[in-house]
Amino acid sequence: MILFISVYFMLSSLLAFGQDLPPYEPCDLAYRLEQRGDFCFWHSSNDGAVGQMNFFEANQQCQLRGAKLATPNTQDIAEWFQLRQDVVGRRQRDYWIGGLDEPWRNGSYYWLDGTPWDQAHANNFWAVGEPSGPPNHCIALAGRDEIVKGYWDDRHCYNDDLDFICQRERRRVCTCSENESKFCDIGFGCTSFRVCESGLVITVQCAPGEVADSVNQTCAPANEVQAPCGQLRSCAGFGNASVPIYDNMCHTYYRCENDQWQEELDCPEGEIWDEIRQSCESVESTCEPCGHSSTTPDGSPCPGPRIPNIKL
Ligand SMILES: *[C@@H]1O[C@H](CO)[C@@H](O)[C@H](O)[C@H]1NC(C)=O
Ligand SMILES: *[C@@H]1O[C@H](CO)[C@@H](O)[C@H](O)[C@H]1NC(C)=O
Ligand SMILES: *[C@@H]1O[C@H](CO)[C@@H](O)[C@H](O)[C@H]1NC(C)=O
Ligand SMILES: *[C@@H]1O[C@H](CO)[C@@H](O)[C@H](O)[C@H]1NC(C)=O
Repeated sequence: MILFISVYFMLSSLLAFGQDLPPYEPCDLAYRLEQRGDFCFWHSSNDGAVGQMNFFEANQQCQLRGAKLATPNTQDIAEWFQLRQDVVGRRQRDYWIGGLDEPWRNGSYYWLDGTPWDQAHANNFWAVGEPSGPPNHCIALAGRDEIVKGYWDDRHCYNDDLDFICQRERRRVCTCSENESKFCDIGFGCTSFRVCESGLVITVQCAPGEVADSVNQTCAPANEVQAPCGQLRSCAGFGNASVPIYDNMCHTYYRCENDQWQEELDCPEGEIWDEIRQSCESVESTCEPCGHSSTTPDGSPCPGPRIPNIKL
């Protein structure tokens, strides 16, 4: 359902130079986003209704808002985060950010959003004595005490008592040329989107309970919409495999058929989905990060999850 539609005049005059991208817009204050450089940041602690959670759930929560876990890979952003921790860190909590290492990557860290890992930069921001290594694989921004506040600490990915910080590149002004119809972008929070319709910018606000669907250019219930805004994961490249849902600690999984999403299924109580064996198995015998084993049942190193279902 469309609650209301607001029409703005053509913004093409804002395009200062022929080939340049349109200018950035300010971050949306309705979501209490904070602007730094070309990015908008959102602390989960800004919203009292959002609780603490594990790394994968936090990543999912950012995705559902059309954002990602934060990537403080520049000196400027990382230092700003340290200053910010003086304010938000009063809660003495740690915040997930979007970096992790996985055993099968031989201990090298990476950012979920694909930003290259800069080891020299990271060395400046690890708290003293960190990273402590396995079984800790996910990076948090410490908010605990003056010594480590704002520095990075590797934590167990399934610690479920952390806040988190989402990040999204600032939106650019939506520009339409004469008579043009096209999809522009989704608003932070996934509750609105913008299109050009016959040369006019239209903002469509979704009804409560619905999210923006960029594929169909409409609003629909989340269980009918593709990720990131909706709950339908991408099955591209998975063929007929069933894939664990990391944010549910792999207690649920989804079934793909010919690269198409089919359904979400539950494992029996106490078991998790093992992507290698393609069956529900015990936590002890299943590969990390969902399970506790660092080797497959035949003794070879865990191959690692196929990341697309947590990274977009
Ligand atoms: C990790 O190290 C092993 C053994 O040196 C090597 O075979 C494997 O390719 C490495 N994996 C990655 C992701 O670099
Ligand atoms: C836009 O549409 C009007 C009315 O159909 C038409 O006269 C005009 O040529 C169109 N402009 C462009 C750039 O296509
Ligand atoms: C979106 O479009 C596809 C076909 O293009 C259709 O299968 C799907 O049901 C549509 N989703 C919604 C929510 O309308
Ligand atoms: C998936 O299974 C169907 C039959 O259910 C089969 O026709 C198809 O070739 C399989 N696709 C892949 C990629 O294995």
